[in-house]
Amino acid sequence: MATATMTVASAAAPTPTAPPTLGSPLYTDPSQSVEARVNDLLARMTLAEKIGQMTQVDRDSIAPDDITRLFIGSILSGGGEGPGTNTPAAWAAMVDGFQQRALQTRLRIPLIYGLDAVHGHNNVKGATIFPHNIGLGATRDPDLVQRIGRATAEEMIATGIPWDFAPVVAVPQDVRWGRTYEGYSENTALVTQLGAAFVRGLQGPALGGPFSVLATPKHFIGDGGTTFGSSTTPGYLLDQGDTRVDETALRALYLPPYRAAVAAGAQSIMVSFSSWQGTKMHARKDLLTGLLKGELGFSGFLVSDWAAINQLPGDEHAQVVASINAGIDLVMVPSDYKTFIAALTQAVQQGDVPQVRIDDAVRRILRAKFELGLFEHPLSDPANLAQVGSAAHRQLARQAVRESLVLLKNDQATLPLAKDTPLIFVAGQGADDIGLQSGGWTITWQGQVGNITPGTTILQGIKQAVSPQARVVYDALGTFDAVTTTAGVTATSGAVTADVGIVVLAEPPYAEGVGDLTSLALPASDLALADRVRARSRKLVVILLSGRPRLVTSALPKWDAFVAAWLPGTEGEGVADVLFGDAPFSGKLPYTWPRSDGQLPFDFAHLPAGGCAAPLFPFGYGLSAGDASPAQLDCPG
Ligand code: BGC
Ligand code: BGC
Repeated sequence: MATATMTVASAAAPTPTAPPTLGSPLYTDPSQSVEARVNDLLARMTLAEKIGQMTQVDRDSIAPDDITRLFIGSILSGGGEGPGTNTPAAWAAMVDGFQQRALQTRLRIPLIYGLDAVHGHNNVKGATIFPHNIGLGATRDPDLVQRIGRATAEEMIATGIPWDFAPVVAVPQDVRWGRTYEGYSENTALVTQLGAAFVRGLQGPALGGPFSVLATPKHFIGDGGTTFGSSTTPGYLLDQGDTRVDETALRALYLPPYRAAVAAGAQSIMVSFSSWQGTKMHARKDLLTGLLKGELGFSGFLVSDWAAINQLPGDEHAQVVASINAGIDLVMVPSDYKTFIAALTQAVQQGDVPQVRIDDAVRRILRAKFELGLFEHPLSDPANLAQVGSAAHRQLARQAVRESLVLLKNDQATLPLAKDTPLIFVAGQGADDIGLQSGGWTITWQGQVGNITPGTTILQGIKQAVSPQARVVYDALGTFDAVTTTAGVTATSGAVTADVGIVVLAEPPYAEGVGDLTSLALPASDLALADRVRARSRKLVVILLSGRPRLVTSALPKWDAFVAAWLPGTEGEGVADVLFGDAPFSGKLPYTWPRSDGQLPFDFAHLPAGGCAAPLFPFGYGLSAGDASPAQLDCPG
């Protein structure tokens, strides 16, 4: 054999050598109780093996051989990190490949692969993309949310991934936050109800049952309550900032969703990048160990956020000591894992992190791995691949879209539209763009404009919904200058008027602090687009695709109907279903809609109910198609 070939062969992924012989220690026996298995396994582990279990590395940083060599316990895909070819089968092969390395270690402890499937299995091309949580908040439908959890788990397990960094159970208090759409609502009770429903759906009746995925309510605690401008991250405003409320308010506003999620069986919780009263959550032993593990009796494990321990004061040693002693069990390192492992090893050897803390952390992680059945079923099953983007899941997503739409204005019963409306103009790039209707955390971390994954755009949905007599003309820029009448008359600008104009305005996709905003004003170009179509249409319907309320106060009087569609995901027909009356408008606002930037942040305890100081639309607002819109107030400014 030529030397060159040999070099290539040894550099490529090795064929797994036969795993070491274990005999049959108690922990490998599934008929034993989880606690007995954990105790047995823990007693066999070296410090290096324990620290490996506490280490989570991101997919793009791991040298595969290190999984075996350093006993790495967990790998994650950061937003958009996946196999070179983005197919469900390639995802399964990638995850199984990492798992094979873990199964070659002395004790053959399986690793746990995790990622953010926050609106469906959103990193995977071809997966069903459900509405972001803001839209699910509008549905007020816990049964629907539970079923979405189930469908998401089915798609994840198909690709060999048993751990989801979801649901976000933040209770966002300031809609300028770039993560507003990841939260169900500004209302604690609603977040509590829907977050627990998602946990139940994702995990199924019991961890380890068919298609059971470990849920991770996040980010503990108060991440939606940060003060504008308090972020410690350059360029961010609210995200990763400081929540400045007293303990009574912290508990009242932000704790109930965690209490409910723990009661629903959550076995992992992610800690927030943010601070409470100036101290980063990752160092808050009072809240992590005292409140969560102590008072709430949380028996699962705490995972840190992305490199978040490195936001603590001091050097790596100080950061590792502070965070592990505060109660973090599994560290999302995610890149420089050798430095982390060295620092934690030294900290234990020096007695700065007690051995009992390490044992407690590992015990919590192993418990979840046993409960999930990973020791018995560490690898994916190709028979499940058909779950990804299945017709049943897309139907469910379409239903979720229908239920999520909030009708905010509907003069002269403009909506629903007649299916035989002779001429319909559709404008706005958002009308025909899967990326825009899906938002951040879709295929990539920040999301992307364009048809980035299979789905149906709103325009396609409209075309499918109308009857053959109706004519639908799409012009992204809304000029419609090339339109001719049915009589064949070539129109000069302005000559042809549509019966209905539909303008879809869309926020560009964003995620996390990148989406923090100072002003919620819509770009002038969006307002101009609506004005252009206004001039060419007898009735104007405006649909907003956005991750939060945006200011429409001055433009609204010119629009006949206005619909908040949030970030509906891949099933755009759901929007058309409601526009054309195949399903009713039933969504209710999950967030209070501001009239102006000056109203933010809202003082929810003292919101005026009416007049110009009141919000434009209150929490819970949403018309049915038959309701008359209330008269718009004429307010100064
Ligand atoms: C986010 C988390 C996410 C993690 C992994 C962080 O930046 O705050 O919500 O789970 O990245 O992608
Ligand atoms: C990752 C995200 C992560 C973010 C944190 C990105 O590179 O893909 O998952 O949340 O970094 O800054």
